[in-house]
Amino acid sequence: MITKLVEEFVNRFRKQPEHLFFCPGRVNLIGEHIDYNGGKVMPCAISMGTWLAISKNTDKRLRFECLNFPEKAELHLQQSYTKSGGQWFNYPLGVINEIMQNNSAISGLDMLFAGNLPIGAGLSSSASIEVLTAFALNEMFVLNFSRKEIALLAKKVENGFIGVNCGIMDQYAVAFGKKDNAILLDCDTVEHEYLPLDLGEYIMVIINTNKPRKLVDSKYNERFTECGMALKALKKELPANNLCEVSFHEFSDQRHLINDPVLEKRALHVISENFRVGEAKDALKAGELYTLGKLMFASHQSLKDFYEVSGKELDCIVDFCKTFPDCIGARMTGAGFGGCAIALVKKKSFENFTKKLTVYYEKQIGYKPEVFASDVGDGVMEII
Ligand code: GLA
Repeated sequence: MITKLVEEFVNRFRKQPEHLFFCPGRVNLIGEHIDYNGGKVMPCAISMGTWLAISKNTDKRLRFECLNFPEKAELHLQQSYTKSGGQWFNYPLGVINEIMQNNSAISGLDMLFAGNLPIGAGLSSSASIEVLTAFALNEMFVLNFSRKEIALLAKKVENGFIGVNCGIMDQYAVAFGKKDNAILLDCDTVEHEYLPLDLGEYIMVIINTNKPRKLVDSKYNERFTECGMALKALKKELPANNLCEVSFHEFSDQRHLINDPVLEKRALHVISENFRVGEAKDALKAGELYTLGKLMFASHQSLKDFYEVSGKELDCIVDFCKTFPDCIGARMTGAGFGGCAIALVKKKSFENFTKKLTVYYEKQIGYKPEVFASDVGDGVMEII
């Protein structure tokens, strides 16, 4: 990827790139749809991601090109920008726009991006390109942002410029990823601890449903609003700042306040999922992988029944996983409505798992999934 990127950069811009950067994507082991409810989540960075070759220019232009898309943009350097349609370059543009609000010292830039994350498949391709751009500008213009500030800036771009009410999980995970570690992130305090991810004879498998994802952003924003409504109702009696501050006990006592069966289900997922993350942390620390696997299955069930963000494709994968003897846990990962599932599968059974799952899925769904073994990698970095 790097050789191709440099060659293409030279072809397109007639000079060598001054810098090369990489930012991974992420999977989330457990703790789904609770980051924007102040919960704890357990993502990890993966080895697939997004690369950037970049140089300053003196002609006051921002040039955005990408090996994955034919669309390019060339914009005059100005004080602010607005989102243009649904183009890929809105993500880096939003980041530059945000940075320029407080730093006028940014020069023109020639940028060539490339990625190997399936786009929009729930592996955080958008957080990856946002954090990548912010990290690159931070290094090149010595802006002195910490990794946390970079993650928060990227989230602000996703919320404001792009218009998705996402939480902090994705941007944080790709900024703070650590090889062979999961990140236990408290989304209320925005502090983390690393949890060594020793999977022993198991590996983490990513299964892309290959389902064309539609309306994900609007459905996502709908869930965000529903959680706000459930919290507002509970607040009549409980002094909670977010749903994850509500204990099971408090919820059982006060759930009648919500007075809407749909909102009650949403809250039930959030509160139970946050609890499962705590149990998953203990299981991982004690090396009890079976328990972790069981919690993953339970998380999926709750996302399916109570949060209603799964779908027949993701359910088909998880159903298969439950019947495969060498798989101890599986669940959808990310926002849902298609995208990817993850599974813990015995290393020696990976090929057999892939073969059987592909046949099963194709028979039920009508097309093939993509199955790959995943590494747990580091966060955003400059490549020397
Ligand atoms: C998307 C969002 C995250 C998180 C997950 C669901 O990936 O970007 O902030 O809410 O969905 O857990």
